[in-house]
Amino acid sequence: MSVSGSGLDASALQAMANAMFSAPPGAEPAFGQAPAAPSGPINLGSPLPPGGIPVAGQNNPLPVATSLPMTPPVRATQPGAAELAAPPSFITPRVVPTQAQTPDLHGLQSTVLPALPKGGNGFAGVPEGFAALLPGAAPTPNLSDAAVPSSAQPPSSPYYFLGDASSASGVPESPQLNLASLSDPFGLSAPTRIGGEPPRSSGSTSGAPSSPQSNVSAPSFYFADLGASPGAAKPLPKVSPGRGAFDVQAVRRDFPILSTRVSGGKPLVWLDNAATTQKPQSVIDRISYFYANENSNIHRAAHELAARATDAYEAARKKVTNFIGASSPEEIIFVRGTTEGINLVAQSWGKQNIGEGDEIVVSHLEHHANIVPWQMLAAEKGAVLRVIPVDNTGQVRLDEYQKLLSSRTKIVAVTQVSNALGTVVPVKEIIDLGHRYGAKVLIDGAQSVSHMRVDVQALDADFFVFSGHKLFGPTGIGVVYGKRDLLEHMPPHQGGGNMIEDVTFDKTVYQGPPARFEAGTGNIADAVGLGAAIDYVERIGIENIARQEHDLLEYGTEALCRIPGLCMIGTAKHKTSVMSFVLEGFTTAEVGQALSEEGIAVRTGHHCAQPILRRFGLEFTVRPSLAFYNTFEEIDLLAATVRRLSQTRRRG
Ligand code: ALA
Repeated sequence: MSVSGSGLDASALQAMANAMFSAPPGAEPAFGQAPAAPSGPINLGSPLPPGGIPVAGQNNPLPVATSLPMTPPVRATQPGAAELAAPPSFITPRVVPTQAQTPDLHGLQSTVLPALPKGGNGFAGVPEGFAALLPGAAPTPNLSDAAVPSSAQPPSSPYYFLGDASSASGVPESPQLNLASLSDPFGLSAPTRIGGEPPRSSGSTSGAPSSPQSNVSAPSFYFADLGASPGAAKPLPKVSPGRGAFDVQAVRRDFPILSTRVSGGKPLVWLDNAATTQKPQSVIDRISYFYANENSNIHRAAHELAARATDAYEAARKKVTNFIGASSPEEIIFVRGTTEGINLVAQSWGKQNIGEGDEIVVSHLEHHANIVPWQMLAAEKGAVLRVIPVDNTGQVRLDEYQKLLSSRTKIVAVTQVSNALGTVVPVKEIIDLGHRYGAKVLIDGAQSVSHMRVDVQALDADFFVFSGHKLFGPTGIGVVYGKRDLLEHMPPHQGGGNMIEDVTFDKTVYQGPPARFEAGTGNIADAVGLGAAIDYVERIGIENIARQEHDLLEYGTEALCRIPGLCMIGTAKHKTSVMSFVLEGFTTAEVGQALSEEGIAVRTGHHCAQPILRRFGLEFTVRPSLAFYNTFEEIDLLAATVRRLSQTRRRG
């Protein structure tokens, strides 16, 4: 008997279920094996047409992802081996045929760091915590629980996420770091972005920085130095020169989960912040207070609890308004998260404004949530999806972007920060260029709002979307910002209660925004929790957060890049939070397991961003991702664990 719509019969389903439930924990069932990482240069397939990658017209089958151009990853080789890696034959993306000899390819060079010099019992040039975890060194007291793995073969794991079949040993041989020299299109060197005065903190908090910050501009990223001084094993500075210390221990006390223990008693090291962030006690308490004192449906009743709940919910909307620089709360729509937000825009504005032959532009960096909704819309409308290529550092090509734009471009949808690589995208330039052609621009802020100041009016974004849970708030709540005049003219994407002025069987009159887009009972308590998370972030100061994370990222990237066989994926000049890598000889799952055994949580896999990983010839990476509550000692442990792992296999 055929199961409706699925094309499967009951016996096939039964067989799949048996395979799934009989598989031991940690093992892949006999179906659905993850694809192995490519073992060499991938056949690029058909040449890509000029002007990007057309996708999903009605008579226009989706191109297979392996036809995308790719670049091999950065690869550290044996210490001291300063050979110049030959550019691979497949490095010239056919999507940019006129750019085959672009300057950023000229930057190909060895950036291998030398072996760390050892002297006596110590490890010269290595921070204390890091050195203590290197082979032969006694662990420091504060990391005494954190023994690095000693076995060559990591034991099998009961965890679901360790079943991917990737093999880092299959990673193609690669050139070294590509130091593309973008001019500073972000304005990040401007004091207000990273290196400026912190805002005045309102009230004291245990999370506030412990000392005044000096107005010292941010140093350039490590990437600029790596290629220039391959002979120096310099110490890794933990705090940028001229900056006051960030009282990370005080901040950490605000997050109860950071003192939990995992993996048989190891302190939790939470380096999976790009997947979700941890919640301060103030957020947990606010949600609890809501349910204890305010819980009611909103906007609908005259009783006091309805008023309390409505006030709390609308106060949260005001906090979001101020936090992202919107001009009024009517421009803020609460949704479940970024994914629902992008779908809202695609289904409402997109269905209304995009027709056959129109073009939608996304970048190669996008999360699936900023690809699939547009593909669905394009397929329905006969529109075309075009893709802005990235350079070999993982930064979008503004020159190629300009070539994609035309009067057919109706919307540009790009991320502000890549979840897979950490690239900070020059969205202001992307918005301005898109507007020149009359296109609207949506910015996916899921990975940016927790790391940098966002001002939607200064950006002139038409739409901006983000999720509360990546901003130290609850899951299940997110935001769509839309310019008021756009929202006023957009149809609702869902119908129901709360979004209407008047209903008869003949017709319905809708409310204005934002209620028009909030049909039904929303996630009231978690909106309130998001408001508390924003309060918390504002008390710390987003500039202070950015500065601390910048220092952690510089430090962590350099520590990881010193590990033989480690290939950093994503080396753009402007990055935040993410240190994606693969380790030669190990699957990403094996690395994730080894880290988990030390209490270190990272994401391994495709990060819901398969196109950008395939651009670099990979299916999976290991992705440590930072937040301001992470410490240099946690990064020491991360690097020491990866280094020890790499040595086990190399010795074996
Ligand atoms: N988008 C989340 C991530 O990058 C889930 O891990």
